[in-house]
Amino acid sequence: MRQYSIYVLWLWFGLFACTRQASQEELQYLEEISFNDGWKFTKGEQEKGMSPDFDDSKWRKLDLPHDWAIEGPFDIQYNARAGGLPFHGIGWYRKTFKVARQLEGKKAFIHFEGVMNRAQVWVNGQLIGGRPYGYSGFQLDMTPYLKFGEENTVAVKCAPEDLSSRWYPGAGIYRDVWLEYKDPVHVAFDGTFITTPKIENGNATVNIKTELVNTSSEAATLQLETVVLNKLGEQVKSITSEVKLNAGGQTEVEQDIVLEKAQLWDLENPYLYKAVTFVKKGNELLDKKQTTFGVREISFTADKGFLLNGKHVRLQGVCLHHDQGPLGTAVNRRAKERQLQIMKDMGTNAVRTSHNPPSKALLELCDEMGLLVIDEAFDCWKMAKVENGYNKFYDEWSERDLRDLIRRDRNHPSIIMWSIGNEILEQSQKDGWKETCRLARITKDEDTSRPVTAGFNYYPASVINKLAEEVDIPGFNYKPMKYKEILTQHPDWIIYGSETSSCTSSRGVYHFPIEPYKTHESNQVTSYDLIGPNWSYPPEHEFDMLAENPNVLGEFIWTGFDYLGEPTPYGGRDNSTNGYWNGDWPVHSSYFGAADMCGFPKDRYFLYQSQWSKKPMVHVLPHWNWEGKEGDIIPVHAFTNCEEVELIVNGKSYGKKVKGVDLTPIPMVNRFWDSEKPLMSKYRLNWEVPYEPGSIKVIGYTNGKVMVEKEIHTAGKPHHIALEADRSAIIADGKDLSYVTVKVVDKDGNLCYTASNDIQFEIEGAGQIAGVGNGNAASLTPLQGKHMEVFSGMALAILKAEKEAKGQFTLKATAEGLESASIEINLQDQAL
Ligand code: GAL
Repeated sequence: MRQYSIYVLWLWFGLFACTRQASQEELQYLEEISFNDGWKFTKGEQEKGMSPDFDDSKWRKLDLPHDWAIEGPFDIQYNARAGGLPFHGIGWYRKTFKVARQLEGKKAFIHFEGVMNRAQVWVNGQLIGGRPYGYSGFQLDMTPYLKFGEENTVAVKCAPEDLSSRWYPGAGIYRDVWLEYKDPVHVAFDGTFITTPKIENGNATVNIKTELVNTSSEAATLQLETVVLNKLGEQVKSITSEVKLNAGGQTEVEQDIVLEKAQLWDLENPYLYKAVTFVKKGNELLDKKQTTFGVREISFTADKGFLLNGKHVRLQGVCLHHDQGPLGTAVNRRAKERQLQIMKDMGTNAVRTSHNPPSKALLELCDEMGLLVIDEAFDCWKMAKVENGYNKFYDEWSERDLRDLIRRDRNHPSIIMWSIGNEILEQSQKDGWKETCRLARITKDEDTSRPVTAGFNYYPASVINKLAEEVDIPGFNYKPMKYKEILTQHPDWIIYGSETSSCTSSRGVYHFPIEPYKTHESNQVTSYDLIGPNWSYPPEHEFDMLAENPNVLGEFIWTGFDYLGEPTPYGGRDNSTNGYWNGDWPVHSSYFGAADMCGFPKDRYFLYQSQWSKKPMVHVLPHWNWEGKEGDIIPVHAFTNCEEVELIVNGKSYGKKVKGVDLTPIPMVNRFWDSEKPLMSKYRLNWEVPYEPGSIKVIGYTNGKVMVEKEIHTAGKPHHIALEADRSAIIADGKDLSYVTVKVVDKDGNLCYTASNDIQFEIEGAGQIAGVGNGNAASLTPLQGKHMEVFSGMALAILKAEKEAKGQFTLKATAEGLESASIEINLQDQAL
């Protein structure tokens, strides 16, 4: 260890020695530089928007990432299927920046992590490239168009079309942008590939492939040095290779490092290493690149399922769209971290990035938090699902988009499969297997260390037309009742539920009696979890089928969170509306989530938690505020991971029920079974209770011992506002967030479920409201405004600090007829 420390000290000294004469700007070339701040933006076509001398003084100033559509307004003229927000049209971004004269001779790249969509980029008036697919990252070479030592202008035009997405895609430069100045000899873009092919007796072989590029006109003899750092940043190993690179050449260098007593990456301890690559020519450091990786072994077998480091893991997955509720799609790391934590607390261990390449932030967080990922490329291939969808670009771009996705993401230990598509319509085609085969080959060409998958919803067409055969692991959407049949016919197949349940509900809403309906006049969906489209089924059906088929890898529920768009079971799917789903306006966001758009758990969240988590829990529904229904029978349901639950209403016991023995009928209509015969749920306990106001309490027992309890009370009159921040201190960087839960409560602090007060928010001090929400799919109140009505008694205010602010700021919440509330958020310079 000591030897390495000395060695790296030398290395750093070497770096210092060779660059100490250089200016700050010159030094920049070793790192990616954030290019997010100081942009100008306007909506609408600008004929000369790309020209350096265009007058953009009236455009709005902003920092990226930015999603123009989330700013609203909601309007029936926009498609509810895509969120009822103005995501289509044209948007222009411009930024002027100086490039130091000393950088002349370096290569200059601009790197966009994602622009929604049909992006075109100009530098000093010259079109340098673009990207149609809004979910692909791309790097462009600016070198020939830059003026060193002078001001330069970069202009970006995005042109998302109407009817181009089945969900809310967001709009604009919604992911990070970077500048990269490089020596002509450097590591290629996304050119590092690290795998851990052998782990034996605690020692791991780390295989590092590095692509080097020489864009200069001289051959170069180089040293490629890779240093592995452990979690604490200590050097544990290094290796140096001598490389000869021709002028204009490119080569791949392969290095193997053995890590003794390697720390494995797993779900409980997601241990991460870093590999730092140094490209040197003698004493001169030409490039430096840092790559995070994990040491882990994944395997999939038909009899044992999925093994992580030799240990069986059942996939308890969620499908996630990329929006962040009231914040829209402008990527925010803290927003994603909170989303993933909420999912983890439900017992989730896997995420499917439905149905597109995710943000880098999401993958980094999954690495750090110990979540498995299916990284998905496409929602459609050549056959269109929407009029202006990705099919328009497919022939020209699919190979490039797929390769770029894999090259970008292949070092993440969290990723266990590459998905080449979701419910692609080619399933219906006799030759659909050909395209499957082409994409699977491209995927393998980039990475053989992970299996290729796809989510199929046509059954048996996807099997008959041989698409399922062409992937390593076919995923089946909504087909639990076919698992047995598929595995009987194909005993060597490894399969899983790539999309399951699609049950719908609104947080805190209950309709009596419990009976199926298509839609409800309230524009909400009962939270007893029995309503959904005709391909859906209650979560319990999947649990049963997974229990019967233990070698099915597991499931990915549709969805972890509600998302903007796709307001099923409302809206319409028929073609008479020309692709618009506005029949039940103002409904405009989904009901599928286990948590709502604010991240507040619905009842279904606890149903999954009772199946997926071990920490003793118990949950009861509905709420207990049924004025006017005194004496009526109310069905009370409980979820638990304990053995038994006792229900106590106003001090009186309604008896204990045993999980798995006392069954609950769920009368869900589904085309796969007879609606006369309800599903008998082994996962819910139920009691019929005459309503009287007061309290209901559930107590969870295991081995006769009380493990956990939960009590809810009938609320009195709305009395005051209660605020609770998930974090009372945040970093003053303009990005970090505090999520404040807003509740209308009675004088004793009980949540008033039936309240709908409009809450006004005001900030005192250097803070800002980043977004507001309430989880109501039918609310048209702007998500970026300063007020929000509570829904089932609750709302959310998302706060951020102004950059470099000090001290604290205060959020004040007021509403007519209620005592107001305020909360202080302290500001920090950096994470503690
Ligand atoms: C699936 C589709 C998802 C979503 C879901 C709703 O068919 O793959 O994207 O639309 O249905 O149930």
